[in-house]
Amino acid sequence: MTKTIFTKKAAALLLAGALGAGLVGFGARAAIMLTNTVTGQPLDLSEAPEEGRDTEAVKTFLETGKNIYNEKAVCLPKAHEIYLSMCSGCHGHYGEGKIGPGLNDSYWTYPKNETDQGLFETVFGGANGQMGPMYGALNMNEMLLAMAWVRHLYKDDPKGAVWLTDEQRSAFKPFDANAKHVEAAEELPDACGGPAG
Ligand code: HEC
Repeated sequence: MTKTIFTKKAAALLLAGALGAGLVGFGARAAIMLTNTVTGQPLDLSEAPEEGRDTEAVKTFLETGKNIYNEKAVCLPKAHEIYLSMCSGCHGHYGEGKIGPGLNDSYWTYPKNETDQGLFETVFGGANGQMGPMYGALNMNEMLLAMAWVRHLYKDDPKGAVWLTDEQRSAFKPFDANAKHVEAAEELPDACGGPAG
């Protein structure tokens, strides 16, 4: 009898914990604990739009904290477009910094931004001042795409690109501002979270 009560209580505690972390309501449970960059409070993922929650990239991110869009060529045009409309006004066309800090080198005000998890937390939940939370403007799949463009803008020695896999790092070329601009396709490719992705 005592044992049953204990188990029920434990289950209730677990549920309360999951609710607190905002993880209920997602098909794929987040295996990682996501926290606000400034306050350290758990992020409430249910604040994100319904759309873009179930893409392979979002599911993988919530399991592993890794962004599979980094250096994924087919997704970079869309990643670029999102960055230009949502981030460049404050961070500069090339992430060189404007009213917001530069994002194209390996210096971070918040060192956790060198991980995909930390970068997502900053984009989702915001930081200080003008860096507001993005969950009202972008869905989680779009956040991962914008993040991939931030990584692509990196201009220094690839050795410092610690967010890339070893394989990606050995192939990585510092950002070339003269590279040909590729327009994003009208429809989001499936591989980037599009209709059948
Ligand atoms: C309205 C202006 C504004 C917009 C739009 C904006 N940011 Fe920011 N961002 C800032 C400011 C200001 C800071 C500095 C905040 C701080 O230090 O707490 C900042 C900080 C950051 C940081 C932390 C940098 C570090 O050195 O640790 C990252 C990462 C970041 N922004 C990414 C983005 C991305 C990606 C977007 C687009 C999805 C974006 N921001 C849109 C103004 C903005």
